[in-house]
Amino acid sequence: MKKKIAAVLVGIMVLSLAGCGGSAKTTENGAAKTTTLKLAFNQSENHPQYKALAEMSDELYELTDGAYEIEISPNELLGSQKDAFELVQSGTIQMAMVANSIVENVNGDFAVLGLPYAYDSTEHQKKVFTSGILDELFASTSANKFNVLAAFTAGSRCIYTDKPVETPEDLAGYKIRVMEAPTSIAMLNAMGGVATPMAQSEVYTAIQQGVINGGENNEITYADLKHYEVAPYFSYTRHLMIPDLLVINSDILSGMSEEHQQIMKDLCKKYTEREFEIWDEQLQSAIDTATEAGTTFTEVDITPFQDAVQPVIKEVVEKSESAQALYDSIRTLAE
Ligand code: GCU
Repeated sequence: MKKKIAAVLVGIMVLSLAGCGGSAKTTENGAAKTTTLKLAFNQSENHPQYKALAEMSDELYELTDGAYEIEISPNELLGSQKDAFELVQSGTIQMAMVANSIVENVNGDFAVLGLPYAYDSTEHQKKVFTSGILDELFASTSANKFNVLAAFTAGSRCIYTDKPVETPEDLAGYKIRVMEAPTSIAMLNAMGGVATPMAQSEVYTAIQQGVINGGENNEITYADLKHYEVAPYFSYTRHLMIPDLLVINSDILSGMSEEHQQIMKDLCKKYTEREFEIWDEQLQSAIDTATEAGTTFTEVDITPFQDAVQPVIKEVVEKSESAQALYDSIRTLAE
């Protein structure tokens, strides 16, 4: 709790230093003026998304001749993903990396991107994120004052708790933290457990104090947040490859010249691919860290979990024609 208050206070200080005038900070840079796009990130500098975004910022600066740079604030310095998302919409900051589930609360079609077992593999997901089939969806939110620039992989989410979980029955009565979105809640309940939505920063303490029995996440976040200390059994249910979304304030985006918008678009595609690479490079070391700390990793037959979540998939997909069309085009790329 204390940590959270401190983080929010630091966030407020950072914002006042940046001058919360509702627009990006512009400074003289020799001949050019540099507009700094402040980007909120909830995880650490070691995270593959941070690394990809840092590289992207350098290239953005070069290709726009110093007109734009991205300044990333990691570790929830600007607040939780939910808070950061609102700051982007209000124009107080310009960009954020947020979980897909946050955007799903604005436009239900995004839920399709985060449906359980929607992607067969990393290769399949990479195709979906870079093939252009999401462009229309990404542009659909400007009335809500933000646009989605890219979907970045966040690996494959699995259950972790105090015992191996191999069947839905193993989850009976188990309170498992999920992200704060209806699809995540419905999914975990369908998988046999008791879904408990909360912010990521509260999970460690909640498990430690017995408020919940575990969580579900990818290996990199599991290791980074040391969740292995409180939930040492990680079971490969691989139920969810939900992406994180890079969002930008829509006025900032439309205020960029066409040339700069194109540069941003091309860079987003390039760094979507690059982040997959960095993810792969770091995955094993996260597994090693957790293993050395005593985690037991268990391979699981995913079939009963896949069967259990079919009603959740059906409900989301049948909500609208556009959701159905999106789901079909994602699945077509699997073949
Ligand atoms: C992953 C994901 C984050 C998300 C987190 C969570 O780490 O990359 O965007 O915040 O899971 O479970 O809340």
